[in-house]
Amino acid sequence: MSNLASKRPSQQRRPSGSSLADQARFFKSWFENPGRAGAISPSGPFLARTMAGCFDIAGEGPILELGPGTGPVTAALIERGIAESRLVMVEYDPTFCTLLRERYPEAKVIQGDAYDLMKTLEGHMPVPAVAIVSSLPLLLRPPHDRQRVLEHSFRLGRPDAPYVQFSYGLKSPLPRSGLAGDIAYNSRRLPPVLLNVPPAHVWVFNRLQQEIP
Ligand SMILES: C[S@@+](CC[C@H](N)C(=O)[O-])C[C@H]1O[C@@H](n2cnc3c(N)ncnc32)[C@H](O)[C@@H]1O
Repeated sequence: MSNLASKRPSQQRRPSGSSLADQARFFKSWFENPGRAGAISPSGPFLARTMAGCFDIAGEGPILELGPGTGPVTAALIERGIAESRLVMVEYDPTFCTLLRERYPEAKVIQGDAYDLMKTLEGHMPVPAVAIVSSLPLLLRPPHDRQRVLEHSFRLGRPDAPYVQFSYGLKSPLPRSGLAGDIAYNSRRLPPVLLNVPPAHVWVFNRLQQEIP
């Protein structure tokens, strides 16, 4: 029996999201609802690894992924060593949810609206997240919707949990610093991911008061 075959399905190597089948799924989702998909193809592996690799995974608690799509960032999180059972994903597209549940049976996949996160995740997050990783196409939504995602994410995370966001825009889709509700935060921008098509930027937002009560 090969090494791969001897592993349980959840331990097997994950598809990167760049397979032709995933490209086709993604294009279909974009074609049906361009304003929700926000891109015509999944993120490439360099972008996915940048998203997954820019925060501390130590500590107990889930990693919350918003807008996982076909799962390229999810794959990179698992590749980094995060147990699948620590992943909580919020995805609006039911077809993607079915796919994600097949691929990541130990993860929690919630079909719902990430722009109303506290309600969508009611009862699903007994332990605060150690990080929130978002691929939501924020630029397609008005500023107050974007701010609410950030505020709700901070509320669902530990005080030191970063909110990681990518965008194809040159400017941050969120104010670089300020208040999300009454939570003060700032941010840093990572070097551009030029090897993604199209090139992308990743921002990491952090609460200013990070004491853990
Ligand atoms: C730009 S794609 C990124 C997908 C994937 N993470 C990647 O990097 O290829 C945005 C994803 O956000 C999802 N999405 C859009 N609006 C959403 C919402 N309100 N709630 C949850 N997911 C949403 C889309 O269905 C899509 O899967």
